[in-house]
Amino acid sequence: MADPLSIRVNGRDRPVSASPDTPLLYVLTNELELHGPRFGCGLAQCGSCSVLADGVEIRSCVTPVAAVGNRSITTLEGLPAWYAEQKGLSPPPALHPLQQAFVDTQALHCGYCYNGMTVKGAELLANNPSPTEADIRKTMNGHLCRCGTYPRVMKAIQLAARAIAGAKP
Ligand code: FES
Ligand code: FES
Repeated sequence: MADPLSIRVNGRDRPVSASPDTPLLYVLTNELELHGPRFGCGLAQCGSCSVLADGVEIRSCVTPVAAVGNRSITTLEGLPAWYAEQKGLSPPPALHPLQQAFVDTQALHCGYCYNGMTVKGAELLANNPSPTEADIRKTMNGHLCRCGTYPRVMKAIQLAARAIAGAKP
């Protein structure tokens, strides 16, 4: 009999009862009750289901849960702790700076794209703390917002970059 499936999510090993070919998104939302990632297109086209796998964005709607392997998954809910670990902050902030920036800029309308915009933006800022407008545009290209908030998402990411630059370890 195969070993029971388990994945590491937001710093915890979580047993999974779903079949190995179940999309990671369904496991996160239905079994683990993590509702940050959202179902949008189901075809890796919109980004609403994005999570980080070892710090790299993946589309959980098209990733079979068994394909996660030993990679550590971070969802929207785990972003503050993920950020704190990078920066050596203890305790972690209540929100990742980009989550805070989305609040401060009131960037979103319906909020459906918020998960993917935040996860992808957080990945960008971890790898490139001072992104140019062109960097942001290029990175966020695969994340769709049906409400057309792109200019304000740009502002939020720029604000978060400034906040991170001023953050004390
Ligand atoms: S729901 Fe996964 S990319 Fe659209
Ligand atoms: S704010 Fe509505 S989809 Fe982006």
